[in-house]
Amino acid sequence: MIDLYVEITSFAHELDELIRAFMPGKKVNILRNREDTSTGNLRIDVVYEFKDNLLHVYSNLIQDGKKIDEANETMEIDDIQGDKWIIRRQVKNVFKRCVYKIVSRFTDKNLDWGILTGIRPTKIVNEMLDCDMEKRRIFSILNRGYFISPSKAHLLIETVSHQRAILSKNHNKKISLYINIPFCTTKCLYCSFPSAIITASRGFLDSYIDALIYEITTVMSRILKQGYIVETIYIGGGTPTALSAIQLERVLKALRAIIPSEIKEYTVEGGRPDTLDIEKLSILKEYGVNRISINPQSMNEETLIKIGRNHTPYEIIECFNNARTAGFDFINMDVIVGLPGEKLGDIEKTMTEIYKLSPENVTIHTLAIKRGSPLKDNLRRYEFIDENMAENMLDICKRWMSNMNMFPYYLYRQKYMLGNLENIGYAKPGKECIYNIQMMEERQTVWAFGAGGISKIFYKDKNKIERVPNVKNYIQYIDRIDEMIARKIHIIE
Ligand SMILES: C[S@@+](CC[C@H](N)C(=O)[O-])C[C@H]1O[C@@H](n2cnc3c(N)ncnc32)[C@H](O)[C@@H]1O
Ligand code: SF4
Repeated sequence: MIDLYVEITSFAHELDELIRAFMPGKKVNILRNREDTSTGNLRIDVVYEFKDNLLHVYSNLIQDGKKIDEANETMEIDDIQGDKWIIRRQVKNVFKRCVYKIVSRFTDKNLDWGILTGIRPTKIVNEMLDCDMEKRRIFSILNRGYFISPSKAHLLIETVSHQRAILSKNHNKKISLYINIPFCTTKCLYCSFPSAIITASRGFLDSYIDALIYEITTVMSRILKQGYIVETIYIGGGTPTALSAIQLERVLKALRAIIPSEIKEYTVEGGRPDTLDIEKLSILKEYGVNRISINPQSMNEETLIKIGRNHTPYEIIECFNNARTAGFDFINMDVIVGLPGEKLGDIEKTMTEIYKLSPENVTIHTLAIKRGSPLKDNLRRYEFIDENMAENMLDICKRWMSNMNMFPYYLYRQKYMLGNLENIGYAKPGKECIYNIQMMEERQTVWAFGAGGISKIFYKDKNKIERVPNVKNYIQYIDRIDEMIARKIHIIE
């Protein structure tokens, strides 16, 4: 246990995350007052003062009641400028750098992502490019101001440079839709998504689709009347194709009835090949779906059994070929690095098989051990790779992506990822998923429908997002559908 006292208490949560990034598994106890007694033998106090036109932040590391190290960071008061959120971030970063220094010395470690603890590191690079900053200066800020390693700083800049052309075409009448189908055939070992097993929910599926169609139709008729254009639709989950062909068609038909215009990008997460047969593929095609995901996670049979995927590598290949035959020329494949028992050779094998299939997008995830997943509940049964091995595995993927003429185009981080790494979406030129970029960069309104959907309304003038959540539980969603609709209408009108 580490005790942490921060003079600006609202920064404590992020500083706690930063400390835990250095010391995974350690608990941090936030102290409200400096006088509070420590509960463990290690304590960090972070305080500040204004002196000589400078903001001074000091962090003290105390072991068994004795100060064993101190760090100090300063910032010129004249440089603290902008709206209140920007000022808050600038000041918070001074606190973070100060804590980073002291914990880095204590653990004798550096973090590749430096002081960044958020899930969307690309956003800061987009903001700097908006101010016409040169890439060399951006690199220097990432490296010296955020302590990000040179390789991650380059990765960030490269990723964002592939988003700019798409983001530059945004305008406030273009929107995206997300539709959530929170059902799956089985529960994967690592998964914490609140999706229900379809066989156990069978009695509710038709009512769920009724509620979903009602929500989409009622809300979208009002939105479209205001002149909005739907640029992308993303049907995700769960596994949307876990629905029967008839149920899936009901959703697609309702969408076509309410949005008759052609959709630039229309994705359905097929996900698992055990749910995506030729009949469903042709239905998707008929209703204008132009991008699908077929997700192997791994191409090793042993791993697929271990993680409860319910499909073989061969079924992935077969499903992929069927999708090509059905006319899909925009296919994504998800992979997870660090699955229990996998070694470098297993990643090579997965990449070799994906290379042969040559999809347009590949998303490389790093395993995150999330609360609510069967994996987290049974940790002792598994062995995990260390951060160097995870980084080596990501490097193998990177090399294969480059062999496939793919580049990184979106990136995000999650809590509890192995080695504190990242997830990277790769695309062939011109095949970036627009929805993934919009959703990650939060520069376009995304209306979300279905249980667990969180709509995000983007206000360009304030550069702010307003969230409108639906309830997560699908039975409550059906019961409270009028309330879910009312929440959205309140914003629209
Ligand atoms: C919305 S999820 C599920 C998509 C689909 N149901 C499937 O499983 O194929 C999208 C992706 O996130 C990744 N993912 C989910 N849980 C993860 C975890 N705990 N760690 C790393 N990646 C994860 C998987 O690669 C998954 O395909
Ligand atoms: S990973 Fe995908 S298929 Fe597996 S349980 Fe989660 S949402 Fe369902």
